[in-house]
Amino acid sequence: MANEGGVGIIATVALSLASDHYRKAKDYFKANIKALADELAWAREISPQGIIGVNCMVAIRDFEEMVRTSVEHGAQMIISGAGLPLRLPEFAAADPKTALVPIVSSVRAAALIAKRWLRTYRRIPEAIVFEDPNKAGGHLGASRHQLYDPEFDADRVVPELAEWARKEYGDEIPIIWAGGVWDRGDIDHALSMGAKGVQMASRFICTHECDAADSFKQAFIDAKSSDVVIVDSPAGLPGRALKTKFIEKLFRGVEVESKCVATCLMECRCRDADETFCIAYALHKAQQGDMEDGLLFTGSNAVRHTHMQHVWQIFEELTGQPSPSRLVAQRG
Ligand SMILES: Cc1cc2nc3c(=O)[nH]c(=O)nc-3n(C[C@H](O)[C@H](O)[C@H](O)COP(=O)(O)O)c2cc1C
Repeated sequence: MANEGGVGIIATVALSLASDHYRKAKDYFKANIKALADELAWAREISPQGIIGVNCMVAIRDFEEMVRTSVEHGAQMIISGAGLPLRLPEFAAADPKTALVPIVSSVRAAALIAKRWLRTYRRIPEAIVFEDPNKAGGHLGASRHQLYDPEFDADRVVPELAEWARKEYGDEIPIIWAGGVWDRGDIDHALSMGAKGVQMASRFICTHECDAADSFKQAFIDAKSSDVVIVDSPAGLPGRALKTKFIEKLFRGVEVESKCVATCLMECRCRDADETFCIAYALHKAQQGDMEDGLLFTGSNAVRHTHMQHVWQIFEELTGQPSPSRLVAQRG
């Protein structure tokens, strides 16, 4: 992603579970710090010039450590949602050049964050991501009954956010549209509504470069639109996911693996009330290719996948420009 002129983002949830650091010492939080440092070093090695960022969720117990580790190891951007990242500038203070980008689902949340940051830290967000709960994948910033409420629709909120940024901050906070962006037409639409960029996840799942197992990617190629479902996450939020055997078991009330492996969430229905399932375990299992016990997060239109592609091919399609990494490779 970073090699093609995009921003490559590393996710931090359950990052360490696949690492030797966790296998050796079984200390999830210490291992997460080491695994994130490794990921950042590896990302920099494969993309020496690209922009590399980290997604740190507020609802995670090691949010502060993940932010501090990211900054210490050279992340150029921190994207942060699943709660209001009110103290993010404090945790990222070691390098004021690191771009700080909250994820919101309303103008109210954006205004609260920007005001608090300005008053407390004398800075404003470098950008704000609006994540459309009707279309985005993973944890969604709205309750189940609000999911298809037009009030949270990107077509409504992005222009409002752009207007708010222009009025309050003289256009200094670019708004990024996330959720449901698949092709160039979607990008043009987002830009026409006042966004300055887009955040995309689902489109890149069936790429050779995506580090999930082949069976994870194949599940998307095989999926039908009725397979995109909403599950109740242990974090107390709805999540959009692909229907797999794991989800079928959940819906039928069949017992699924619910032993808390990481104590990763601040508030967790699995750990604290013995309900739902262990999210770290379920996401990790999916990434490893276990379709029985794995949870596959997805955006609303990820079932449009029909075949595997390279990231550079998607970028060429989206930008209409030759990929910089392909040109370098061809020159030898
Ligand atoms: C497989 C998958 C994993 C995701 N993991 C995270 C995550 O760790 N943190 C986060 O803030 N958002 C996460 N998201 C949400 C995306 O960052 C993004 O905002 C959203 O899915 C964009 O919509 P799209 O998938 O339609 O492109 C995830 C989405 C998917 C599909």
